[in-house]
Amino acid sequence: MKISDMLYSRMEKSLNNLIKYKRVLVPNKETPVEADKNANMNLIIWGDPQISFISPLRSARVYSACRDVENSNSEFDALVMLGDITEYGAKCEYAFTKKLLSGIENKFSNIFAVTGNHDIRLRNYKKQTARFNSFLNSFENGKASKNGKYYFSTYVNGYKFIMMGADRTAFEASYISDEQLEWLDKELKAEQNSGKPVFIFNHQPLKNTNGLPVTFLGKGKWRGTVGRESDKLREIFEKYGNVLFFTGHLHYCTSQYTYEDCVRFKAISVPTVGVINHGEFGKFTQGYVVSVYDDKIIARARVFGEGKYVESSVPNSEFQIDLK
Ligand SMILES: [Fe+2]
Repeated sequence: MKISDMLYSRMEKSLNNLIKYKRVLVPNKETPVEADKNANMNLIIWGDPQISFISPLRSARVYSACRDVENSNSEFDALVMLGDITEYGAKCEYAFTKKLLSGIENKFSNIFAVTGNHDIRLRNYKKQTARFNSFLNSFENGKASKNGKYYFSTYVNGYKFIMMGADRTAFEASYISDEQLEWLDKELKAEQNSGKPVFIFNHQPLKNTNGLPVTFLGKGKWRGTVGRESDKLREIFEKYGNVLFFTGHLHYCTSQYTYEDCVRFKAISVPTVGVINHGEFGKFTQGYVVSVYDDKIIARARVFGEGKYVESSVPNSEFQIDLK
């Protein structure tokens, strides 16, 4: 038996035991997650599942979050996972993530994911892009880059979606090449007069946004961010003024830092669905349900594993972005 198959069956066995001994969250069915039929587009966005062959509890949390989606009567235009899909970028971890999501993939017209530092940090770049993209392509509605890289763009219900990704292996930050920055500039330029927001998804946030460095436990000036290219990226966003930048990586709960209006762009830092959320509202399995209208966007935080929207006393449990 191959090592990856062995690890996969161990992951399967551990999750089954957690289910058997009732160690998993069971979402409440009375308040199911809902898409708004009057919206132009409805999304579910999760940060960092970080499925790991050494942490069965992460699988259990994502399993519970998936049950919540399964309980829904709605269908959504996309599921977006904001990087660190896995802990080690291992084959068995992607295969197990695929298994966890298999019960809900028919709820989404599109399944997207960007890579996080954990997906790529220990891996040969070329092999890992192939592994990551084949993971996405294993879903009927999975969308992956076709150019051997991570980054690409597409449209969902007339809105441009840009998936960013590192251009070489990096341990914690994300190396974004000049080529990707130039491409991004062109992509935004092409949308300049559309009158619509552009949805950009990346694992790491920009420097000095979303409560950094506090939200990365206050460590260092660059830590927790995109890295060296942060200023260049910000410059591009500010040039066009229509960017919604969704990121993960911080493992920080729904809080006053989740949504930041950076005037020329909006920065949204999504909590983790699989790992521990730091900060005051430290519940597991948090994420956002986003509904997009002609004139506004409404984002609602949800504790998926409990089947509940986050109570209104928590900052940014619901926030609105006005579109002008
Ligand atoms: Fe990360």
